[in-house]
Amino acid sequence: MSSQKNSKKIVILGTGGTIAGKAGRAGDNIGYTAAQVGVDELVQAIDGVAALAAAGRLVTEQVAQVDSKDMSFAVWTQLARRVHHYLAQDDVQGIVITHGTDTLEETAYFLQAVLQPAKPVVLTCAMRPATAVAPDGPQNVLDAVAVASWPGAQGVVAVCAGAIHSAQDVQKVHTYQLDAFSSGDAGPLGFIEEGSLRLMRNWPVAHAKHAPIAIKSIADSSAQAIWPYVEIVMNYAGASGAVVQALLAQGVQGLVVAGTGNGSLHHELEAALLKAQAAGVEVVRATRCLNGRVLPKPGDAIPDSKGLSPVKARVALMLQLMG
Ligand code: SIN
Repeated sequence: MSSQKNSKKIVILGTGGTIAGKAGRAGDNIGYTAAQVGVDELVQAIDGVAALAAAGRLVTEQVAQVDSKDMSFAVWTQLARRVHHYLAQDDVQGIVITHGTDTLEETAYFLQAVLQPAKPVVLTCAMRPATAVAPDGPQNVLDAVAVASWPGAQGVVAVCAGAIHSAQDVQKVHTYQLDAFSSGDAGPLGFIEEGSLRLMRNWPVAHAKHAPIAIKSIADSSAQAIWPYVEIVMNYAGASGAVVQALLAQGVQGLVVAGTGNGSLHHELEAALLKAQAAGVEVVRATRCLNGRVLPKPGDAIPDSKGLSPVKARVALMLQLMG
């Protein structure tokens, strides 16, 4: 690494999560309250990160303090604006975001879609609270800082349990284990081993697909983003069109359906979705399967999600409608 690169800053933005959680008892890894410890306190306790601070190369900012199950459009908007702000600073090398694991994949996909950064933006997290006997947060932060500092790194990625996942592929797949994320068929982008990166694939590249209006209205601090009303419905044994009908009555603008298998739908649910589509609601078909993607067939009336999981397809549809 050149001395020029070494003088650049790493920004750590705090948003809450288990990584900032506190339990009443050190052995308790599930009965804690998320989003209690400030990002400053959290990262200053980690040796390698404190060294960055001592060298004047660390900036921290508490953007939010939430349990990520409660993630909101307001937090997303603020987070996109702050990331946008720091990405534009010449002396910033990369950004780390501490985040809860529960909706991390949605935030990662959202930030990649609207910002498509040419610098690294690394979301990290923990499965155990900060008060645990052996918390996983400090190592994850240290690994995330290594990724954010890596020459040539770019795009939004997630770092957890020594693996780097792209925003496109990352999914939380375990309720409890420390290695809670997977990139499915694609596999991880790489691994962090004692501060060094072993890359398996290329860094995420920018796609000009998402509407520039959405990017502008979210990231530009002068604009007030309007979030379209998009919901997710699921196919299952005995599914009906009742939920779709109720959502139509509520003025839903977009629907993502988590179909079974290759996006298959119960005939009653399909009929309701086609009716919604005819009424002007955008409908997208994803799959509830963890791996694979919906393979389109000639004559499909409902477009597929282009490999996106239902929650990410919802974000993509909101951005599409916003644009
Ligand atoms: C959260 O998502 O904020 C709580 C759960 C976690 O971070 O593991």
